[in-house]
Amino acid sequence: MASIYNLATLLLFCCLANTIITPSLSELVQEQPLVLKYHNGILLKGNVSVNLIWYGQFTPTQRAIIVDFIYSLNSNRAPLPSASSWWKTTEKYRGGASTLRVGHQILHEKYTLGKVLKTAHLLALASKVNFAANSINVVFTAKDVAVDGFCMSRCGTHGSSRGSPRGTYIWVGNSETQCPGQCAWPFHQPIYGPQTPPLVAPNGDVGVDGMIINLATLLANTVTNPFNSGYFQGPPTAPLEAVSACTGIFGSGSYPGNPGRVLVDKATGASFNAHGVNGRKYLLPAMWDPQTSACKTLV
Ligand SMILES: *[C@@H]1O[C@H](CO)[C@@H](O)[C@H](O)[C@H]1NC(C)=O
Repeated sequence: MASIYNLATLLLFCCLANTIITPSLSELVQEQPLVLKYHNGILLKGNVSVNLIWYGQFTPTQRAIIVDFIYSLNSNRAPLPSASSWWKTTEKYRGGASTLRVGHQILHEKYTLGKVLKTAHLLALASKVNFAANSINVVFTAKDVAVDGFCMSRCGTHGSSRGSPRGTYIWVGNSETQCPGQCAWPFHQPIYGPQTPPLVAPNGDVGVDGMIINLATLLANTVTNPFNSGYFQGPPTAPLEAVSACTGIFGSGSYPGNPGRVLVDKATGASFNAHGVNGRKYLLPAMWDPQTSACKTLV
């Protein structure tokens, strides 16, 4: 590991990285009153560049599912309930709208850092696009890439760079072959807890549709708590944020092990709750609504 980086690069990154834990662990939190406190720091508002760094093999179809999702968040072209109506809840956090724009994309198809990555590798990959103010560098790792803590304690993470300008990053892994019951639930039987039949993935790809859930979670968590001084509950080292505060909830009537009410595509049997651009459908998690202090579902 050390041979690949110089220490100066590593020191650029802040030590804080907020992990999203798996549903089985976080169901415990649902019983407490849900108030995310605002900690007086800045949020990511206005135009936000989202740069995508793909590590390992992703098919063009897989990349299109994810890129279309990001476009869907700020498009008004999809019928309701839509991904953009879901994203609009982030506007209720002070400061108005966060408009995401896809910026640079980098393909790393040759596994030059190997197939077993540490957190430091993720940071190095995130910095392949220069950090900038109001930007999020997103690293996606392919299904055959193991990452420190992936499937053990986390499905993805977000954090920020040090120095100026200060950028943010997200990492999301494809869990299809490593732990779909954890990181692609409810599209796969859960490993622990009550067993409900898996839902059919809306884009026909359990791994990538699971990545959408985790990416959606981390994008909302990032814009509302980019530097650990935004909205969260609990200690800054293990915060509950906009969507991680609502983990495991997808529709009304949800309870531990049951995602709640969703829509079903009659032709394919796929479950979804949000329309996107290009006729896409997605299943998006509930988000904490500052107006009602409750987890808001689309359906
Ligand atoms: C955001 O980007 C659009 C299009 O590039 C531009 O018209 C608009 O002024 C920008 N808004 C802000 C707040 O910078």
